[in-house]
Amino acid sequence: MFLFMELLQSDDPQKIQEYFGQIYKDLNVHSKAEEEIAYPAVRGKYPDGDLKELYDEQAEMRVIMDELKSTDPASPVFKEKVNQLKSIVMDHVRQEESTYFAAIRESFSSEESEQLATQFKAYKAQLQQEMAAQMK
Ligand SMILES: [Fe+2]
Repeated sequence: MFLFMELLQSDDPQKIQEYFGQIYKDLNVHSKAEEEIAYPAVRGKYPDGDLKELYDEQAEMRVIMDELKSTDPASPVFKEKVNQLKSIVMDHVRQEESTYFAAIRESFSSEESEQLATQFKAYKAQLQQEMAAQMK
């Protein structure tokens, strides 16, 4: 959320573009890791409808991020879209915190949840490396 705040407070299009670049990377890595590792792990232990909502919200984030990529950071539309993105992210995080993590606590032993966390982190690190390699 810090990056969103910085971006929304900035009037410098170059800075805005930089903050957005970081948000874009972070959100993509995070959501891909969730969709590949974290969400499949709870299938059957978490309501399907809720899980679908989490996937849908992340798909929505990607649509807005792609729109932002082709929007001029100096235009007011850019910040409107960033605000839209921010509120989806906030709702999404709230849902994850209130229900997803509760499902993990209920149906995973502490070893299992540690294992999942380790797997999640490793996959994220791998994605970050891949992304960095692509940018070279
Ligand atoms: Fe998420």
